[in-house]
Amino acid sequence: MKGLILSGGAGTRLRPITHTSAKQLVPIANKPILFYGIEDMASAGISEIGIIIAPNTGDEIREAVGDGSRFGVEVTWILQDEPLGLAHTVLIARDFLGDDDFVMYLGDNMLEQGLTEFVAEFDKDRVESQSPKLGEARQPPAAQILLARVEDPRSFGVAEIGPHGEVVQLVEKPDNPPSDLALVGVYLFDRTINDAVAAIDPSPRGELEITDAIQWLVDNGHRVRHEVLSGWWIDTGKKDPLLDCNRLVLETVEPRMAGSVDAESRIEGRVIIEEGAEVVRSLVRGPAVIGAGTRVVDSYVGPYSSVGDNCELVESEIDHSVVMQESTIHGIPRIVESLIGRSVHIRRSDLKPRATRLMLGDHSNVDLE
Ligand code: TTP
Repeated sequence: MKGLILSGGAGTRLRPITHTSAKQLVPIANKPILFYGIEDMASAGISEIGIIIAPNTGDEIREAVGDGSRFGVEVTWILQDEPLGLAHTVLIARDFLGDDDFVMYLGDNMLEQGLTEFVAEFDKDRVESQSPKLGEARQPPAAQILLARVEDPRSFGVAEIGPHGEVVQLVEKPDNPPSDLALVGVYLFDRTINDAVAAIDPSPRGELEITDAIQWLVDNGHRVRHEVLSGWWIDTGKKDPLLDCNRLVLETVEPRMAGSVDAESRIEGRVIIEEGAEVVRSLVRGPAVIGAGTRVVDSYVGPYSSVGDNCELVESEIDHSVVMQESTIHGIPRIVESLIGRSVHIRRSDLKPRATRLMLGDHSNVDLE
């Protein structure tokens, strides 16, 4: 079993962060989203991973991941010149995939549950289907999709399941959803998917859709099985789900104290203070993580905050937020529900006239109090 992680795409919904950086490298609890997917594959025993990258962000992703050895995997880089769709990535990964089974994983998706069980179920079904011992022979599955129960399925790809648990139909963003089972960004395929992605046409939005490729499998008599997730699943491609994800992951981190905290500071709850970080006359209330080399002075870092490496918070308050590396926040009470990019500087100034002065990138969002 190989792995294919999709880390290209346009990332329009996470602008302006994605104007300069890959959304898959945005940190969740100070670790790039993409790394969770790679680790998840490694723990499911998948050691050959192809990673799809885009021309503008590929280099920084390659630099961040390296050759994969620190995750115990071997990485093959696959450049997608244009974001022509999820099924297009399978098409261009053909040399890497060969005729092997593989897990396809959207690089901006996060799952609470590990992959091991899903891979095992697929393998087991494939073996049992071909076993002569079985009374009732059945066709081995050509694909397995993961589904999550959602309250309002209308904004998702939704699956209709037949009486024997087989996938009958996939519908994108239906007005009348056939079920409450939304398609999660993790798929397992055998070699048949290569025929499917070659056979389908681009959708009205100009992309080769993986839902169309899976529907092609069903329509051409192949069996598509499904599993329903029990833990949470988040597509982190937008700010608020990303912050939700940061909250959920921070709730699980092991507290660690490698930096320094002065006698006038208080650390409460589940908190990581990384090496070289300094907390001075401040309150840090977890779950929270303070990155290496970061200074927190006369400030409050509240629950569900991840502050990246080499940041500075002075006379400021923050909670429910992600601050990426090398950013500084001076004299701001209080920042909430915010995603702050790299090397961003926010400060209260004495300049006259007293006013808000901004230099924001394209597609920035600012909510003033
Ligand atoms: P999406 O989030 O569906 O697409 P996107 O990245 O273009 O984002 P937006 O809709 O905000 O513009 O993509 C899911 C994942 O798959 C994500 O990690 C990017 C990746 N991807 C590719 O690698 N190649 C592609 O052609 C597409 C469409 C996505």
